[in-house]
Amino acid sequence: MTVTSRDWEHDFDFDDPEFHASYYEILRELAAKCPVAHSSAGDGYTAMMSYEAVTTVMRDAETFQSGPGFIINRPDGIPKMLPIEMDDPRHRAWRVALNPYFGPAAVRQWEDVTRELASSLVDGFAADGRCEFVGDFSGPFPAMLISRQILHFPEEDIPELRHNIHLGVFGIVNPDGSREFDPAGFVGVLQNARALLERRSNEPPVDDIIDAILTFEVTEGEPVTMDERAQILYTLIFAGLDTTTSTLAGAMFHLAGDRELYARLCADRSLIPAAIEEFLRYYTPGTCFARFASQDTQVLGVDIKAGDQVAIFMAAANLDPKEFGDPQIDIDREVNRHISFGFGPHRCLGSHLARMTLRVALDVLLDRLPNFRVDESETMEVATNQRRQTLRLPLSFDVSGTSS
Ligand code: HEM
Repeated sequence: MTVTSRDWEHDFDFDDPEFHASYYEILRELAAKCPVAHSSAGDGYTAMMSYEAVTTVMRDAETFQSGPGFIINRPDGIPKMLPIEMDDPRHRAWRVALNPYFGPAAVRQWEDVTRELASSLVDGFAADGRCEFVGDFSGPFPAMLISRQILHFPEEDIPELRHNIHLGVFGIVNPDGSREFDPAGFVGVLQNARALLERRSNEPPVDDIIDAILTFEVTEGEPVTMDERAQILYTLIFAGLDTTTSTLAGAMFHLAGDRELYARLCADRSLIPAAIEEFLRYYTPGTCFARFASQDTQVLGVDIKAGDQVAIFMAAANLDPKEFGDPQIDIDREVNRHISFGFGPHRCLGSHLARMTLRVALDVLLDRLPNFRVDESETMEVATNQRRQTLRLPLSFDVSGTSS
Protein backbone atom coordinates (compact mmCIF):
# COMPACT_ATOMS: atom_id res chain seq x y z
CA MET A 1 0.00 0.00 0.00
CA THR A 2 1.16 3.51 -0.72
CA VAL A 3 -0.59 5.73 1.79
CA THR A 4 1.54 5.06 4.88
CA SER A 5 4.74 3.28 5.91
CA ARG A 6 3.02 0.16 7.35
CA ASP A 7 2.34 -3.05 5.41
CA TRP A 8 -1.39 -3.00 6.22
CA GLU A 9 -2.14 -6.10 4.18
CA HIS A 10 0.16 -8.40 6.17
CA ASP A 11 0.51 -6.53 9.44
CA PHE A 12 -2.71 -4.65 10.10
CA ASP A 13 -3.05 -2.77 13.40
CA PHE A 14 -5.90 -0.42 14.23
CA ASP A 15 -3.86 0.89 17.18
CA ASP A 16 -1.27 2.35 14.83
CA PRO A 17 -1.89 6.15 14.93
CA GLU A 18 -1.52 6.13 11.12
CA PHE A 19 -4.79 4.20 10.99
CA HIS A 20 -6.54 7.13 12.67
CA ALA A 21 -4.81 9.65 10.42
CA SER A 22 -5.43 7.84 7.11
CA TYR A 23 -8.57 5.89 8.07
CA TYR A 24 -10.52 6.22 4.81
CA GLU A 25 -7.53 5.78 2.50
CA ILE A 26 -6.41 2.61 4.29
CA LEU A 27 -9.84 0.99 4.49
CA ARG A 28 -10.76 1.94 0.92
CA GLU A 29 -7.56 0.50 -0.48
CA LEU A 30 -7.82 -2.72 1.55
CA ALA A 31 -11.48 -3.25 0.62
CA ALA A 32 -10.60 -2.84 -3.06
CA LYS A 33 -7.32 -4.75 -3.23
CA CYS A 34 -7.03 -7.05 -0.23
CA PRO A 35 -10.25 -8.89 0.70
CA VAL A 36 -8.51 -10.77 3.53
CA ALA A 37 -5.65 -9.13 5.50
CA HIS A 38 -3.63 -10.33 8.50
CA SER A 39 -2.61 -8.91 11.83
CA SER A 40 -0.13 -10.03 14.47
CA ALA A 41 -1.38 -7.46 17.01
CA GLY A 42 -2.33 -9.01 20.35
CA ASP A 43 -3.48 -12.60 19.79
CA GLY A 44 -3.31 -12.05 16.03
CA TYR A 45 -6.27 -12.20 13.66
CA THR A 46 -7.38 -12.61 10.08
CA ALA A 47 -9.08 -9.41 8.93
CA MET A 48 -12.00 -9.49 6.50
CA MET A 49 -11.97 -6.30 4.45
CA SER A 50 -14.09 -6.68 1.31
CA TYR A 51 -17.88 -6.68 1.30
CA GLU A 52 -17.88 -10.30 0.14
CA ALA A 53 -15.43 -11.46 2.84
CA VAL A 54 -17.21 -9.63 5.68
CA THR A 55 -20.71 -10.79 4.74
CA THR A 56 -19.49 -14.37 4.18
CA VAL A 57 -18.30 -14.48 7.79
CA MET A 58 -21.30 -12.69 9.30
CA ARG A 59 -23.77 -14.89 7.46
CA ASP A 60 -22.28 -18.13 8.81
CA ALA A 61 -22.71 -17.75 12.58
CA GLU A 62 -22.23 -21.46 13.17
CA THR A 63 -18.68 -21.44 11.83
CA PHE A 64 -17.86 -17.88 12.98
CA GLN A 65 -19.12 -17.55 16.53
CA SER A 66 -19.74 -14.48 18.66
CA GLY A 67 -19.94 -16.32 22.00
CA PRO A 68 -16.17 -16.21 22.68
CA GLY A 69 -16.21 -12.42 22.24
CA PHE A 70 -17.02 -9.69 19.70
CA ILE A 71 -14.25 -7.30 20.82
CA ILE A 72 -10.95 -7.92 19.04
CA ASN A 73 -8.11 -8.82 21.45
CA ARG A 74 -10.64 -8.43 24.23
CA PRO A 75 -9.04 -6.97 27.39
CA ASP A 76 -9.64 -8.94 30.61
CA GLY A 77 -12.34 -7.64 32.91
CA ILE A 78 -15.04 -6.65 30.40
CA PRO A 79 -18.29 -8.38 31.41
CA LYS A 80 -19.99 -10.40 28.65
CA MET A 81 -22.09 -8.27 26.33
CA LEU A 82 -25.31 -10.18 25.66
CA PRO A 83 -27.00 -11.11 23.36
CA ILE A 84 -24.10 -10.10 21.08
CA GLU A 85 -21.60 -12.46 22.74
CA MET A 86 -23.90 -15.45 22.64
CA ASP A 87 -24.64 -18.07 20.01
CA ASP A 88 -27.81 -19.90 19.00
CA PRO A 89 -30.05 -21.40 20.30
CA ARG A 90 -29.88 -19.17 23.40
CA HIS A 91 -29.13 -16.08 21.30
CA ARG A 92 -32.18 -16.69 19.15
CA ALA A 93 -34.41 -17.21 22.20
CA TRP A 94 -33.35 -13.84 23.64
CA ARG A 95 -33.87 -12.11 20.28
CA VAL A 96 -37.40 -13.49 20.01
CA ALA A 97 -38.13 -12.01 23.45
CA LEU A 98 -36.52 -8.62 22.74
CA ASN A 99 -37.45 -7.99 19.08
CA PRO A 100 -41.07 -6.80 19.63
CA TYR A 101 -39.89 -3.92 21.83
CA PHE A 102 -37.79 -2.51 18.97
CA GLY A 103 -39.96 -3.35 15.95
CA PRO A 104 -41.33 -0.80 13.44
CA ALA A 105 -44.73 -0.63 15.19
CA ALA A 106 -43.20 0.19 18.58
CA VAL A 107 -40.84 2.77 17.10
CA ARG A 108 -43.58 4.55 15.11
CA GLN A 109 -45.37 5.45 18.35
CA TRP A 110 -42.30 7.34 19.64
CA GLU A 111 -41.91 9.72 16.70
CA ASP A 112 -43.76 12.71 18.20
CA VAL A 113 -41.95 12.39 21.52
CA THR A 114 -38.66 12.17 19.63
CA ARG A 115 -39.40 15.38 17.75
CA GLU A 116 -40.38 17.23 20.92
CA LEU A 117 -37.24 16.04 22.67
CA ALA A 118 -35.00 17.10 19.78
CA SER A 119 -36.63 20.54 19.73
CA SER A 120 -36.35 21.02 23.47
CA LEU A 121 -32.65 20.17 23.40
CA VAL A 122 -32.09 22.73 20.62
CA ASP A 123 -33.96 25.31 22.73
CA GLY A 124 -31.07 25.06 25.19
CA PHE A 125 -28.53 26.59 22.76
CA ALA A 126 -30.42 27.96 19.72
CA ALA A 127 -30.09 31.60 20.81
CA ASP A 128 -26.30 31.30 21.26
CA GLY A 129 -25.51 30.78 17.57
CA ARG A 130 -23.09 28.02 18.55
CA CYS A 131 -22.96 24.66 20.31
CA GLU A 132 -20.66 21.74 20.95
CA PHE A 133 -22.87 19.38 19.04
CA VAL A 134 -21.89 16.11 20.74
CA GLY A 135 -22.15 17.41 24.31
CA ASP A 136 -25.22 19.58 23.69
CA PHE A 137 -27.22 17.39 21.35
CA SER A 138 -26.09 14.08 19.83
CA GLY A 139 -24.83 12.69 23.16
CA PRO A 140 -27.82 13.37 25.44
CA PHE A 141 -30.50 12.99 22.74
CA PRO A 142 -30.58 9.17 22.21
CA ALA A 143 -29.88 8.62 25.90
CA MET A 144 -32.87 10.74 26.97
CA LEU A 145 -35.14 9.13 24.39
CA ILE A 146 -34.20 5.62 25.46
CA SER A 147 -34.53 6.56 29.13
CA ARG A 148 -38.00 8.10 28.65
CA GLN A 149 -39.54 5.63 26.21
CA ILE A 150 -37.83 2.28 26.50
CA LEU A 151 -35.45 1.37 29.29
CA HIS A 152 -36.63 3.83 31.94
CA PHE A 153 -33.29 4.30 33.67
CA PRO A 154 -33.31 7.55 35.70
CA GLU A 155 -32.45 10.55 33.52
CA GLU A 156 -30.07 11.80 36.21
CA ASP A 157 -27.92 8.70 35.54
CA ILE A 158 -27.24 9.79 31.95
CA PRO A 159 -24.04 11.83 32.55
CA GLU A 160 -22.52 8.92 34.48
CA LEU A 161 -23.62 6.38 31.86
CA ARG A 162 -22.19 8.49 29.05
CA HIS A 163 -18.97 8.99 30.99
CA ASN A 164 -18.62 5.24 31.54
CA ILE A 165 -19.42 4.38 27.92
CA HIS A 166 -16.79 6.86 26.77
CA LEU A 167 -14.32 5.48 29.30
CA GLY A 168 -15.07 1.95 28.11
CA VAL A 169 -14.71 2.58 24.40
CA PHE A 170 -12.16 5.41 24.13
CA GLY A 171 -10.91 5.85 27.68
CA ILE A 172 -7.31 4.71 27.83
CA VAL A 173 -5.07 6.88 25.66
CA ASN A 174 -1.57 5.41 25.19
CA PRO A 175 1.54 7.59 24.90
CA ASP A 176 1.55 7.03 21.10
CA GLY A 177 -2.02 8.39 20.90
CA SER A 178 -3.75 5.02 20.34
CA ARG A 179 -6.85 4.32 22.40
CA GLU A 180 -7.90 1.24 24.35
CA PHE A 181 -11.08 -0.11 25.87
CA ASP A 182 -11.12 0.43 29.64
CA PRO A 183 -12.98 -2.40 31.45
CA ALA A 184 -13.91 0.01 34.29
CA GLY A 185 -16.35 1.82 31.98
CA PHE A 186 -18.11 -1.44 31.10
CA VAL A 187 -18.32 -2.48 34.76
CA GLY A 188 -19.78 0.94 35.63
CA VAL A 189 -22.63 0.59 33.09
CA LEU A 190 -23.29 -2.98 34.26
CA GLN A 191 -23.71 -1.70 37.82
CA ASN A 192 -26.38 0.76 36.65
CA ALA A 193 -28.17 -2.05 34.78
CA ARG A 194 -28.05 -4.33 37.79
CA ALA A 195 -29.41 -1.60 40.10
CA LEU A 196 -32.26 -0.90 37.69
CA LEU A 197 -33.22 -4.58 37.50
CA GLU A 198 -33.06 -4.98 41.28
CA ARG A 199 -35.27 -1.96 41.81
CA ARG A 200 -37.79 -3.10 39.20
CA SER A 201 -37.92 -6.66 40.52
CA ASN A 202 -39.35 -5.20 43.76
CA GLU A 203 -42.04 -3.19 41.94
CA PRO A 204 -45.31 -4.41 40.37
CA PRO A 205 -44.80 -5.45 36.71
CA VAL A 206 -45.79 -2.93 33.98
CA ASP A 207 -45.29 -5.26 31.02
CA ASP A 208 -42.38 -3.38 29.44
CA ILE A 209 -38.99 -4.54 28.17
CA ILE A 210 -37.51 -4.51 31.68
CA ASP A 211 -40.22 -6.94 32.82
CA ALA A 212 -39.50 -9.05 29.72
CA ILE A 213 -35.81 -9.18 30.70
CA LEU A 214 -36.69 -9.99 34.31
CA THR A 215 -39.04 -12.85 33.43
CA PHE A 216 -37.26 -14.38 30.40
CA GLU A 217 -36.73 -18.15 30.72
CA VAL A 218 -35.29 -20.82 28.40
CA THR A 219 -36.59 -24.31 27.69
CA GLU A 220 -33.10 -25.81 27.21
CA GLY A 221 -29.70 -25.09 28.73
CA GLU A 222 -28.73 -23.45 32.02
CA PRO A 223 -31.43 -21.48 33.87
CA VAL A 224 -31.23 -17.71 33.30
CA THR A 225 -29.36 -15.92 36.10
CA MET A 226 -29.67 -12.33 37.28
CA ASP A 227 -26.13 -11.76 35.92
CA GLU A 228 -27.27 -12.79 32.44
CA ARG A 229 -30.29 -10.47 32.65
CA ALA A 230 -28.07 -7.56 33.75
CA GLN A 231 -25.63 -8.26 30.90
CA ILE A 232 -28.52 -8.06 28.42
CA LEU A 233 -29.67 -4.72 29.82
CA TYR A 234 -26.19 -3.21 30.02
CA THR A 235 -25.56 -4.11 26.36
CA LEU A 236 -28.80 -2.39 25.37
CA ILE A 237 -27.67 0.75 27.19
CA PHE A 238 -24.19 0.61 25.65
CA ALA A 239 -25.39 -0.13 22.12
CA GLY A 240 -28.26 2.34 22.17
CA LEU A 241 -26.50 5.44 23.42
CA ASP A 242 -23.17 5.57 21.69
CA THR A 243 -23.91 4.51 18.12
CA THR A 244 -26.69 6.98 17.27
CA THR A 245 -24.60 9.77 18.83
CA SER A 246 -21.77 8.88 16.51
CA THR A 247 -23.78 8.68 13.28
CA LEU A 248 -25.57 11.96 13.98
CA ALA A 249 -22.27 13.76 14.59
CA GLY A 250 -20.93 12.28 11.33
CA ALA A 251 -24.02 13.50 9.48
CA MET A 252 -23.73 17.05 10.83
CA PHE A 253 -19.99 17.21 10.15
CA HIS A 254 -20.60 16.06 6.61
CA LEU A 255 -23.42 18.51 5.92
CA ALA A 256 -21.42 21.39 7.39
CA GLY A 257 -18.87 20.77 4.62
CA ASP A 258 -21.16 19.69 1.78
CA ARG A 259 -23.27 22.78 1.13
CA GLU A 260 -24.88 21.36 -1.98
CA LEU A 261 -26.26 18.36 -0.10
CA TYR A 262 -27.23 20.63 2.81
CA ALA A 263 -29.25 22.84 0.43
CA ARG A 264 -30.93 19.82 -1.20
CA LEU A 265 -32.01 18.39 2.16
CA CYS A 266 -33.27 21.76 3.39
CA ALA A 267 -35.39 22.12 0.26
CA ASP A 268 -36.66 18.54 0.08
CA ARG A 269 -37.01 16.64 3.36
CA SER A 270 -38.10 13.49 1.54
CA LEU A 271 -34.38 13.02 0.72
CA ILE A 272 -33.48 12.65 4.41
CA PRO A 273 -33.92 8.84 4.62
CA ALA A 274 -31.56 8.25 1.66
CA ALA A 275 -29.05 10.67 3.20
CA ILE A 276 -29.26 8.87 6.55
CA GLU A 277 -28.41 5.56 4.86
CA GLU A 278 -25.35 7.17 3.30
CA PHE A 279 -24.25 8.70 6.62
CA LEU A 280 -24.70 5.31 8.27
CA ARG A 281 -22.57 3.72 5.56
CA TYR A 282 -19.76 6.28 5.40
CA TYR A 283 -19.55 7.12 9.11
CA THR A 284 -19.86 3.48 10.28
CA PRO A 285 -19.52 3.71 14.10
CA GLY A 286 -18.46 0.07 14.55
CA THR A 287 -15.26 -0.14 12.49
CA CYS A 288 -14.71 -3.84 13.19
CA PHE A 289 -15.95 -6.68 15.40
CA ALA A 290 -14.57 -10.12 16.24
CA ARG A 291 -15.71 -13.66 15.54
CA PHE A 292 -14.04 -16.98 16.42
CA ALA A 293 -13.86 -19.98 14.07
CA SER A 294 -15.56 -23.08 15.51
CA GLN A 295 -13.86 -25.37 12.93
CA ASP A 296 -11.16 -25.35 10.24
CA THR A 297 -12.50 -23.47 7.24
CA GLN A 298 -11.63 -21.10 4.38
CA VAL A 299 -12.79 -17.63 3.40
CA LEU A 300 -12.13 -16.66 -0.24
CA GLY A 301 -9.41 -19.32 -0.37
CA VAL A 302 -7.66 -18.21 2.85
CA ASP A 303 -7.26 -20.92 5.52
CA ILE A 304 -8.69 -20.30 8.97
CA LYS A 305 -8.10 -22.78 11.80
CA ALA A 306 -10.56 -23.75 14.53
CA GLY A 307 -10.20 -21.26 17.41
CA ASP A 308 -8.73 -18.47 15.22
CA GLN A 309 -9.78 -14.90 15.86
CA VAL A 310 -11.36 -13.26 12.82
CA ALA A 311 -11.98 -9.51 12.49
CA ILE A 312 -14.85 -8.26 10.34
CA PHE A 313 -14.23 -4.72 9.10
CA MET A 314 -17.69 -3.41 8.36
CA ALA A 315 -16.26 0.08 7.81
CA ALA A 316 -14.05 -1.28 5.00
CA ALA A 317 -16.85 -3.38 3.46
CA ASN A 318 -18.99 -0.22 3.37
CA LEU A 319 -16.38 1.42 1.10
CA ASP A 320 -15.85 -1.56 -1.22
CA PRO A 321 -15.96 -0.29 -4.83
CA LYS A 322 -17.21 -3.67 -6.07
CA GLU A 323 -20.40 -3.19 -4.04
CA PHE A 324 -20.71 0.61 -3.94
CA GLY A 325 -18.77 1.97 -6.95
CA ASP A 326 -17.36 5.35 -5.91
CA PRO A 327 -17.54 5.12 -2.10
CA GLN A 328 -18.03 8.88 -1.55
CA ILE A 329 -21.41 9.94 -0.15
CA ASP A 330 -24.02 9.90 -2.89
CA ILE A 331 -27.63 10.03 -1.77
CA ASP A 332 -28.80 9.22 -5.30
CA ARG A 333 -27.22 5.76 -5.42
CA GLU A 334 -29.88 3.28 -6.47
CA VAL A 335 -28.76 0.39 -4.28
CA ASN A 336 -27.31 0.83 -0.81
CA ARG A 337 -26.82 -2.49 0.96
CA HIS A 338 -24.55 -1.06 3.67
CA ILE A 339 -23.84 -3.26 6.67
CA SER A 340 -23.50 -0.63 9.39
CA PHE A 341 -26.20 -2.45 11.36
CA GLY A 342 -24.39 -5.75 10.86
CA PHE A 343 -25.56 -8.73 8.88
CA GLY A 344 -26.87 -12.19 9.75
CA PRO A 345 -28.38 -13.35 13.07
CA HIS A 346 -26.74 -10.62 15.20
CA ARG A 347 -28.06 -7.82 13.00
CA CYS A 348 -28.78 -4.76 15.12
CA LEU A 349 -31.80 -4.98 17.39
CA GLY A 350 -32.15 -1.17 17.43
CA SER A 351 -31.96 -0.38 13.70
CA HIS A 352 -35.59 0.86 13.40
CA LEU A 353 -35.16 3.03 16.45
CA ALA A 354 -31.82 4.38 15.21
CA ARG A 355 -33.21 5.22 11.76
CA MET A 356 -36.25 7.00 13.16
CA THR A 357 -34.15 8.91 15.70
CA LEU A 358 -31.66 10.03 13.04
CA ARG A 359 -34.37 11.04 10.55
CA VAL A 360 -36.38 13.10 13.05
CA ALA A 361 -33.27 14.71 14.54
CA LEU A 362 -31.93 15.77 11.16
CA ASP A 363 -35.28 17.26 10.17
CA VAL A 364 -35.40 19.32 13.38
CA LEU A 365 -31.74 20.38 13.10
CA LEU A 366 -32.13 21.54 9.49
CA ASP A 367 -35.05 23.72 10.63
CA ARG A 368 -33.48 25.11 13.75
CA LEU A 369 -29.74 25.60 13.01
CA PRO A 370 -29.69 27.63 9.76
CA ASN A 371 -26.41 27.49 7.83
CA PHE A 372 -24.66 25.46 10.50
CA ARG A 373 -20.92 25.11 9.94
CA VAL A 374 -17.92 23.78 11.82
CA ASP A 375 -16.63 26.49 14.17
CA GLU A 376 -12.95 26.61 13.21
CA SER A 377 -12.03 28.63 16.31
CA GLU A 378 -12.74 25.56 18.48
CA THR A 379 -11.17 22.10 18.47
CA MET A 380 -12.90 19.18 16.84
CA GLU A 381 -11.97 15.68 18.10
CA VAL A 382 -12.36 12.33 16.36
CA ALA A 383 -11.21 9.09 17.99
CA THR A 384 -10.45 5.77 16.32
CA ASN A 385 -9.88 2.21 17.51
CA GLN A 386 -12.40 -0.58 16.92
CA ARG A 387 -14.87 2.30 16.89
CA ARG A 388 -14.69 5.59 15.02
CA GLN A 389 -16.48 8.47 16.62
CA THR A 390 -16.58 12.26 16.66
CA LEU A 391 -16.11 13.18 20.31
CA ARG A 392 -16.29 16.98 19.91
CA LEU A 393 -17.96 18.91 17.11
CA PRO A 394 -18.13 22.70 17.60
CA LEU A 395 -20.78 24.20 15.32
CA SER A 396 -21.93 27.75 14.72
CA PHE A 397 -25.12 28.78 12.93
CA ASP A 398 -27.28 31.83 12.13
CA VAL A 399 -29.40 32.92 15.04
CA SER A 400 -32.35 34.48 13.22
CA GLY A 401 -35.20 32.00 12.78
CA THR A 402 -33.93 29.49 15.33
CA SER A 403 -36.98 29.55 17.58
CA SER A 404 -39.28 26.51 17.62
C1 HEM B 1 -26.65 4.16 14.36
C2 HEM B 1 -27.02 3.35 15.30
C3 HEM B 1 -26.59 1.91 15.44
C4 HEM B 1 -25.65 1.19 14.77
C5 HEM B 1 -24.77 1.65 13.61
C6 HEM B 1 -25.63 -0.16 15.33
C7 HEM B 1 -24.83 -1.20 14.88
C8 HEM B 1 -24.91 -2.50 15.30
C9 HEM B 1 -24.15 -3.61 14.75
C10 HEM B 1 -23.13 -3.52 13.66
C11 HEM B 1 -24.52 -4.74 15.41
C12 HEM B 1 -24.03 -6.18 15.14
C13 HEM B 1 -22.94 -6.63 16.08
C14 HEM B 1 -22.35 -7.96 15.67
O1 HEM B 1 -22.71 -8.53 14.65
O2 HEM B 1 -21.46 -8.47 16.40
C15 HEM B 1 -25.49 -4.35 16.40
C16 HEM B 1 -26.09 -5.22 17.28
C17 HEM B 1 -26.91 -4.79 18.28
N1 HEM B 1 -27.45 -3.53 18.45
FE1 HEM B 1 -27.10 -1.90 17.33
N2 HEM B 1 -26.55 -0.21 16.33
C18 HEM B 1 -27.16 1.02 16.43
C19 HEM B 1 -28.16 1.38 17.33
C20 HEM B 1 -28.69 0.55 18.27
C21 HEM B 1 -29.72 0.92 19.21
C22 HEM B 1 -30.42 2.28 19.25
C23 HEM B 1 -29.92 -0.18 20.00
C24 HEM B 1 -30.90 -0.39 21.12
C25 HEM B 1 -31.28 0.42 22.01
C26 HEM B 1 -29.04 -1.23 19.55
C27 HEM B 1 -28.94 -2.49 20.10
C28 HEM B 1 -28.21 -3.54 19.58
C29 HEM B 1 -28.19 -4.88 20.15
C30 HEM B 1 -28.90 -5.35 21.41
C31 HEM B 1 -27.38 -5.66 19.33
C32 HEM B 1 -27.04 -7.14 19.50
C33 HEM B 1 -27.92 -7.97 18.61
C34 HEM B 1 -27.60 -9.46 18.66
O3 HEM B 1 -26.52 -9.86 19.05
O4 HEM B 1 -28.49 -10.22 18.28
N3 HEM B 1 -28.30 -0.75 18.51
N4 HEM B 1 -25.73 -2.98 16.30
